[in-house]
Amino acid sequence: MPHLLSEFRLRDIALANRIGVSPMCQYSSVDGFANDWHFAHLTARAVGGAGIVFTEAAAVSPEGRISPQDLGVWSEKHFEPLARIARFIDAQGAVAGVQLAHAGRKGSTYRPWSGRGAVPEALGGWRPVGPSAIAFSDSYATPVELSADRIKALQLAFATAAARAHAAGFRAVEIHAAHGYLLHEFLSPLSNRRADDYGGSFDNRTRFLRECAAAVRRALPEPSLLFVRISATDWTEGGWDVDQSVELARRLKTIGVDLIDCSSGGNVEKAEIPVGPGYQVPFAQRIRREADIATAAVGMITSPAQADQIIRTGQADLVLLARELLRDPYWPLRAAQDLGYPMPWPAQYLRAAPAGAPERTPAHELD
Ligand SMILES: Cc1cc2nc3c(=O)[nH]c(=O)nc-3n(C[C@H](O)[C@H](O)[C@H](O)COP(=O)(O)O)c2cc1C
Repeated sequence: MPHLLSEFRLRDIALANRIGVSPMCQYSSVDGFANDWHFAHLTARAVGGAGIVFTEAAAVSPEGRISPQDLGVWSEKHFEPLARIARFIDAQGAVAGVQLAHAGRKGSTYRPWSGRGAVPEALGGWRPVGPSAIAFSDSYATPVELSADRIKALQLAFATAAARAHAAGFRAVEIHAAHGYLLHEFLSPLSNRRADDYGGSFDNRTRFLRECAAAVRRALPEPSLLFVRISATDWTEGGWDVDQSVELARRLKTIGVDLIDCSSGGNVEKAEIPVGPGYQVPFAQRIRREADIATAAVGMITSPAQADQIIRTGQADLVLLARELLRDPYWPLRAAQDLGYPMPWPAQYLRAAPAGAPERTPAHELD
């Protein structure tokens, strides 16, 4: 059996294989609510055979959205349409995951096809917040520095959203601490110039995320998976780097985080990033080895052989795909065919399946 298609167990939750749908903003919500687009988008990828399907970044508070059209989870009501999506994903034998996020100083910007830069308040924008009053770039607003009280309130918002996500049927929660959004902004000395307990030393810069992860873990009933996505490096001298990521991963493991999802960049506008096939995989490999925690590799993973090799050689426990799964929601089924493995196909599609492919049995019926 190809390693890519082997089961992965964490905390008594079984992922049918090692392929995950990476969180991808759809910028298609009104007031943060999921709708038919989110249902079609996410459930198609569960039908396609991914072992875990993550929602896009879901903002834990209204000003935590990137664009006004982002998904949000700041009220109980937001989980009604999401619960239907989670049920469908689960019935396909996949684990439903939600990515909890706060955009920080990169909030209140136009969605990619509607404009560039900051959305003015008159057009539905808002004043973004951050660790320090330092704008991401010239085209972004200068954020309001968060007080310690507001930091605590946001940690509670993450924890409340996690508890609601679990009640709505999501068995995995990922805290978004990457790509230059709020939690990453606190980690990096380039965006965090605070003089209080949340800035300065490594301990202080990582405090917001560590407290947040601990609060989310406490709020989640067992068994629930807790992932944290980080940018392993800012790709900039004097910024957040891989050594700090390894140490952070060790600390997060003791808090009860199950897996580090290893991305990079996003906090420095002009960073030079050597983008290429699998360019972030070495981060997943190093963190897995040195912090002794499960990792996910992400970024320009596109071929079945490449993905299988990452798992087989122990560079990561999961691969998360984004754009390749936009091109082809059935990528996992196709990968299994390429690798010569008879992966289960949805019963409804069996007439199109390779000879010998078994019928898919939903995971909750297996035990
Ligand atoms: C349309 C789109 C939206 C994205 N939105 C998110 C997001 O909500 N949260 C996140 O952590 N990453 C987001 N990303 C980054 C992806 O999850 C992924 O890390 C990145 O695209 C690299 O993987 P790929 O080469 O397989 O596309 C997004 C990427 C795309 C293409």
